[in-house]
Amino acid sequence: MKMYQKTVLGALMGIAIASGSLAAEDVDVSKLPAAASSEVDFVKEIKPLFEKSCFGCHGAKPRAKSKYFMNKRETTLKGGSSKEAAIIAGKSAASPLVHFIGDLVEELEMPPIDKREKYPQLTKAQIGLVRAWIDQGAKWPSGVELAMPQ
Ligand code: HEC
Repeated sequence: MKMYQKTVLGALMGIAIASGSLAAEDVDVSKLPAAASSEVDFVKEIKPLFEKSCFGCHGAKPRAKSKYFMNKRETTLKGGSSKEAAIIAGKSAASPLVHFIGDLVEELEMPPIDKREKYPQLTKAQIGLVRAWIDQGAKWPSGVELAMPQ
C-alpha cells in the first residue's frame, strides 16, 4: 500500500475510534463543579432548570432528541438512543447527564452550545445542585411530571 493511502486509512480509523463512544472513562470529572451540600428539593430546585434548559428538546414528544424523554423519572434516568443510563442514582460523577451539562464531552454539551440563547447553560451552582440531587438518590416525588415552562 502506498504511503499516503496508509496515512488516510490511519486517520479514518482514528476518527472511527474517537467518535465510537460516549465513554465515561475518558471524562475528566475533576473539572465538575462540586455537589451542593444542601438537601435538594426536586420540585423547587431541579424541575424548573430541566424545564427551562432541557425540556424543549427532551420532552414527552415522540420526536424528542435522541429519544430521550425527561418528563418522568424513569425515562430521565434511563437515557435515550445511546442505550446508556443517563443518571446513576447516588453517583453524580459517574452519570453521563452530569458530564454533558458540565461540558466534559465534546459534541455532547447539554444544552448544545449553539442553542444556549434559547436554552440557558446551567451555572456551576446549578450543576452542583443537580449533582447533589443525584447523589441524594435522584428523588422525584411520584405523580410529578415535567412540563413546558409557562
Ligand atoms: C436544542 C436541543 C437540546 C436541548 C435544549 C438539550 N438537548 Fe440533550 N440532546 C440533544 C441532541 C440533539 C442529543 C443527541 C446528541 C447526539 O447523540 O449526538 C441530545 C442528547 C442528550 C442525552 C443523551 C441521551 C441518550 O441516551 O441518547 C442526554 C442525557 C441529554 N441530551 C441531556 C440533556 C440535558 C440534561 C439537557 C438540559 C440541561 C439537554 N440535554 C438539553 C439536544 C438537546
